[in-house]
Amino acid sequence: MSIFSSKKKLVDTNIFSGYTDFHSHFLPGVDDGIQTMEESLKALHYYEILGVQRIWCTPHIMEDMPNTTDHLRSVFDELSREYTGKIELRLASENMLDNLFQERLKDDDFLPIGKSLNHLLVETSYYNPPIHLWKTLEDIKSKGYFPILAHPERYIYMDMGDYKRLKDMGIKLQLDLMSLSGNYGKEAQDKANKLLLDNFYDYTGTDIHRLSQAVKAFSSKSVKNSSYKKLKEMYLK
Ligand SMILES: [Fe+2]
Repeated sequence: MSIFSSKKKLVDTNIFSGYTDFHSHFLPGVDDGIQTMEESLKALHYYEILGVQRIWCTPHIMEDMPNTTDHLRSVFDELSREYTGKIELRLASENMLDNLFQERLKDDDFLPIGKSLNHLLVETSYYNPPIHLWKTLEDIKSKGYFPILAHPERYIYMDMGDYKRLKDMGIKLQLDLMSLSGNYGKEAQDKANKLLLDNFYDYTGTDIHRLSQAVKAFSSKSVKNSSYKKLKEMYLK
């Protein structure tokens, strides 16, 4: 058997049936994600066909994309009015740990995520840690939030020691499903496979930025067989 025939498609895992997507960029025109209402509605329709039950819209908030809570709420209301399908839509945000975040932390100005709305989805640059990464994570906890780190496998500056330290601190880790399809290169894919098999992930998300990107990632035979099986196990529980 060739190595290619042992790769699987994400759509065949059946994880999308009843799935909650904890990371997405469906809100049109607010960040580098989907840009138009028309594409948002088409992408939501595609997720509906996959069987997705709930979607957290998590637009970026960062110095380069300084979305305000009020603005995101108003675009979310617009999307909720336009979308008439079955998926439950919720609003949170993906928070870059930069200087703007420090100001928002002082003001407690957040769009939290999760059932009890006490989790915060956070990210860092892919190349360098922010100054005071570890202290900021502690500060978030002392404000009463549980940090969820988005796509840890994509941070080239992080190694297994860092992931263990994060877990020891009680930081939750969120797998970007498209990392498993190789969308972000071999290094991120290899790390994602390892972290998944070693039970480091608490959540997953699709991190959709374009409909075409998601269709390609979910339907290409690109996921390692061991990760395919592990995902199925995770979602069978
Ligand atoms: Fe994202």
